[in-house]
Amino acid sequence: MSDEKFKKIVSHAKEYGFIFQSSEIYDGLSAVYDYGQNGVLLKNNIKEYWWKSMVQLNDNIVGIDSAIFSHPTTWKASGHVDAFNDPLIDNKDSKKRYRADNLIEDYLQKLELKILKEQKNQEKRFGESFDKKTFLETNPRVINYKSKIDVIHNRFSKALNNDDLSELKKIIDDCEIVCPISGTRNWTDVKQFNLMFRTQLGATKTSSIDLFLRPETAQGIFLNYLNVQKTGRMKIPFGIAQIGKAFRNEIVARQFIFRMREFEQMEMQFFIKPGSQKQWYEYWKKERLNWHLSLGIDKSLFRFHNHEKLAHYADAACDIEFNFPFGFKELEGIHSRTDFDLSNHEKYSSKQIKYFDSVDNSKYTPYVLETSIGLDRMFLAIFTSSLTYDKLEDSSKRVVLKIPSILAPYKCAFLPLLKKDGLPEITKKIQKKLKLNFSTAYDEKDAIGRRYRRQDAIGTPYCITVDHQTVTDNTVTIRERDSMNQERIHIDKLEEFLRSSLNINNWLLNSA
Ligand code: GAP
Repeated sequence: MSDEKFKKIVSHAKEYGFIFQSSEIYDGLSAVYDYGQNGVLLKNNIKEYWWKSMVQLNDNIVGIDSAIFSHPTTWKASGHVDAFNDPLIDNKDSKKRYRADNLIEDYLQKLELKILKEQKNQEKRFGESFDKKTFLETNPRVINYKSKIDVIHNRFSKALNNDDLSELKKIIDDCEIVCPISGTRNWTDVKQFNLMFRTQLGATKTSSIDLFLRPETAQGIFLNYLNVQKTGRMKIPFGIAQIGKAFRNEIVARQFIFRMREFEQMEMQFFIKPGSQKQWYEYWKKERLNWHLSLGIDKSLFRFHNHEKLAHYADAACDIEFNFPFGFKELEGIHSRTDFDLSNHEKYSSKQIKYFDSVDNSKYTPYVLETSIGLDRMFLAIFTSSLTYDKLEDSSKRVVLKIPSILAPYKCAFLPLLKKDGLPEITKKIQKKLKLNFSTAYDEKDAIGRRYRRQDAIGTPYCITVDHQTVTDNTVTIRERDSMNQERIHIDKLEEFLRSSLNINNWLLNSA
């Protein structure tokens, strides 16, 4: 997708009240965003869909809501104080700061694009008779690009795994990577940069203590593992789920709500018996992909990507990547976290965090399988894959947000055909009966066609129009967003109609 299309997505999100730049009247705050009147509804619906699938449908998963602040030792024990770093590099001419790993990844992606371009040119030239496999295996330029990619890729993953910052710098120099702003190769050395935000608790300098804003919600779950296990009488395997804010001082914050400094995570830590982690890793990979697919989003937009460099806590990890307008990028992480977190909290707190397994009378520190998805990234994935420009028969364009109907901000809009003859009053009366159970909108301004367009643009699946016939036979028209088909239905049947097509549990259970 082009930059142009991405710009359209960003401006649509603003124009229709989904997402605003934070503090816009003060020229904004970089990588911080606010959700508007329609955005908050979509966001809440995504949360509800996740929560129901995790907590309500799984008897062995419970939810919590832990505080954003926690004791500062939490972050020493979790490894974030020492290891939650990104490698940064500055360009001395533009004074711009970059993530060294991103510069190298972008370079590798450009080489991949060059191969694709060569392939496309030949495809165009030879048409049907083009033999892709032979071409990719024999073309000298392609072979050259491929071997370059292999060499750099190997050096890169080794450097990341060894935290070898000078090798990262050397790769940038060897690949002659330039700053996109200044166009020069005048780089500083690569340095580590800790991503946690600091703040202070307490009123005076001497009595206050340094705190961190949590960079992940997971630690709040580990700190409460014992509380929940004991008070909930939970038996392994069991999970604890949580939705909440996380904060990271990202070095490069671009791509709209993809990389923010304040964002929301939906995380679930699944506590298991040591040795069973491989089985549960595969289980949760499948479960989570199915959850995404249950929303009806095109399967080809998702793929798994195994981590090159494992985080300090993991023995296996992969991402579910989504094809965002700027390419395939991480949407959700699935991590086998071993007993790293619970063991370290045990060590730093000197409190026993063990599980007694009555099945075989063993005592152990549970292993953990984590699923972690960024709520804002999920929002972006849904938004970008839903925004469509339909060409109509009269060759005019229709902007439609074809979001899964159960996530739509409004499930239906009530529209009196005319603003007279008592039609608004009848419409409001019908709406009143339904508004407690469904999120509804009401609109009486402008011609009916324009009102349909406005609802299409915010993704409302059904428009219910009240006209003069309603007065005589109590029927209304229901217009469906994507097909634009209209049918007449008795008002007594409306609730049942909406219930059957919009029931969140139906969606989740059908996918199971
Ligand atoms: N507890 C594990 C953890 O935090 P992560 O891969 O660093 O793992 C999990 O983050 C998810 O949180 C990511 O897959 C992504 O969707 C989201 N996320 C991470 N950093 C983000 C940021 N700066 N802005 C928006 N979402 C972010």
